[in-house]
Amino acid sequence: MHVIIDTDAGVDDSLAIVYAANSSELQIEMLTTVSGNVPVREVTQNVLLLKDFLQLKAPVFSGAEVPRVRKLVTAPEVHGEDGVGGYRILHNISKNDWETGEAANKIVEAARRLRNKLTIISIGPMTNIAKAVSIDAEAMRAAGNIIQMGGVFFGYGNTTTFTEFNIFVDPDAADFVLNEGVRVKFVPLDVTEKLFMPRTIITSLFNSSKGMDSNLKKLLKQATDYYILYHRVTEKLDGCYLHDPITIAAAVNPKWFKFVDSFVSVETKGDHTAGMTLADFRKRKQKGNSEVAVSFDAEKFLLDFAKKVFGVKISSSVIRKNCLRDRNYPKFSNILE
Ligand code: RIB
Ligand code: CA
Repeated sequence: MHVIIDTDAGVDDSLAIVYAANSSELQIEMLTTVSGNVPVREVTQNVLLLKDFLQLKAPVFSGAEVPRVRKLVTAPEVHGEDGVGGYRILHNISKNDWETGEAANKIVEAARRLRNKLTIISIGPMTNIAKAVSIDAEAMRAAGNIIQMGGVFFGYGNTTTFTEFNIFVDPDAADFVLNEGVRVKFVPLDVTEKLFMPRTIITSLFNSSKGMDSNLKKLLKQATDYYILYHRVTEKLDGCYLHDPITIAAAVNPKWFKFVDSFVSVETKGDHTAGMTLADFRKRKQKGNSEVAVSFDAEKFLLDFAKKVFGVKISSSVIRKNCLRDRNYPKFSNILE
């Protein structure tokens, strides 16, 4: 499967990129960068560093510095000022050998060339995706899949009460893409928070990892430690979530996911609700504008992720005992089961 990964790397993005690079199911056409967790100039340097460590052939193109309408909001408290838990700052690494701002054009070129053979996996705000749609909506509608880590439909958000970060940062971009008739497959917090990685398990993955480039291992360890510290201090959770690697898995093995046809609206105006994603799952005559993942096989994903990223086989019983979280909502059981 030909894929583009659009990212605001970011700690979980970095784990996702390693997972994608080690997934023979995916052929990474390019990596494009967007402001989100940290400004795009930091994101691009992180992706270039990962490209070096992973010896990736795919080109990196930088993209949007600011959201479509709103002021940029970043999350250095979650990912570090440099987006990788301070790893580049500590090692005084900066990479400035890149062109600015051509991500959207490159995404459109690939969509025109590959059409339904292309899957775009967006694990940051949708700013580049929206810009690509504004350049050539027909080509973007012809793309095979646009898989977006984003939104929350049944539970609380991770940014404001009811918003998920990627959509919160650029709700206008998400709204524009849907209004242009470009179907999106959302992988929301309702699904990604069904799997929680306790710090003890992450530590054991690093300690027993095999075959990982030593510099890459140091980067991921530093970044993940920082990311876990945020969860411990702010959310009283001794571990972290793997939002973006789970989203990559929706391309690696779609059979692990249950997607439901839906009509999704994005709030772009409210003082307290901008960034909210609302889904109407009721069966109607016409198809909805998107699909929303409502469940996934967390055990199969984690077995695959641990093997491909760390070279480690986690036992199913350890996963079941420590990593699964109940994110079911009885009111919507007719949709979720
Ligand atoms: O809400 C989680 C998402 O926002 C992830 O993609 C994370 O990297 C941040 O971009
Ligand atoms: Ca991300």
